[in-house]
Amino acid sequence: MLRLGVFRPEQFFAAPPDRWLPYLYYRLSRSRVSLRLLRSVGDEMFERLMPHVRLSNGVARTTFRNRFRNLDPLVNDVLSRNFSSREELVVEDWAASTCLTSYEWAESLFALFPRLRFTASDGMLYLIEVEDAVSGEVFVTEQDGRPLQYIRPPFAICMAPPESWTAPLNRVGYQWAKRRWRKVGEIGRAPDAWFDWRCEEMLERNGRLLRKLPLIHPRALELARRDERFSIRRHSVFERAPAPCHVIRSMNILNRSYFSEHQLFDAARSVAESLHAGGIWIVGRTTCEDPPVHDVSVLRKLDSGLLQVVERTGAGSEIESIALDVAAVLA
Ligand SMILES: C[S@@+](CC[C@H](N)C(=O)[O-])C[C@H]1O[C@@H](n2cnc3c(N)ncnc32)[C@H](O)[C@@H]1O
Repeated sequence: MLRLGVFRPEQFFAAPPDRWLPYLYYRLSRSRVSLRLLRSVGDEMFERLMPHVRLSNGVARTTFRNRFRNLDPLVNDVLSRNFSSREELVVEDWAASTCLTSYEWAESLFALFPRLRFTASDGMLYLIEVEDAVSGEVFVTEQDGRPLQYIRPPFAICMAPPESWTAPLNRVGYQWAKRRWRKVGEIGRAPDAWFDWRCEEMLERNGRLLRKLPLIHPRALELARRDERFSIRRHSVFERAPAPCHVIRSMNILNRSYFSEHQLFDAARSVAESLHAGGIWIVGRTTCEDPPVHDVSVLRKLDSGLLQVVERTGAGSEIESIALDVAAVLA
């Protein structure tokens, strides 16, 4: 078995060719899409590229347009009952993946809370393209420098997970890429400020050119540029928010399939400690995509620090009891 790669937008969108040789190339290349294509894309291409992005930590990046169309109205209703429309409401959407559902939610909240300050965050907002200026070799890595792909047309070699021996040529390519990465990869860390969405510069480090490949949906980026009430930030669910919030949403992240009880406890603590008294936490999981069905708990932080369930959909969040216990320990 052999796997080649897709490197150009027109190749990515192409229909299967009629002639057998181009058709063979087409069939051999579809499963290896160069992540370099993320460099500058429109809505449709971005959404079609996302399923090809596989990160090394195993947490899915799945998110969809309109995923929360039946959850946002319910949540907004709770917020309208709990906060005045004149309030400068501080809302954070944690683990927001491409920030597309954050963009949709923020747009609906602006009408209710005109002075809203909304931040969408995720642990991973960019991949990095590393190009060796001399050899022309290109790697795509995660933000911490973990290589995901080695691009050398006609191959786009997958480095995490490694290519398997069932595709021997690809496996040999992977071994080669690993050796090359030991040389090309010695670049040192990019400064944190470079990962701010406002920074569009290319970096030059020891003969390597570094470019950011956004994992942020073009619509969310455009909203952040156009409206200062909406911003995007890199943030881990295990860290407190930089300033106290009125509302935190953490959907499809604090699940037992991703994290241990201990980690869930830590993440719940960072949420509880980030909320103002009277603040609201929306936590849960989407159990069916079409039509969307969610198991969600909406919790309110009382003056005592304890959390109280104010709304539930479906079975409620699977970590509701952890959330209540954490708050009781902190109170
Ligand atoms: C399944 S997506 C959820 C997207 C969105 N909240 C939704 O429900 O449609 C999970 C996201 O969590 C992010 N993630 C994983 N570990 C994280 C961490 N420790 N802190 C913040 N985000 C994390 C991943 O990058 C991924 O984008």
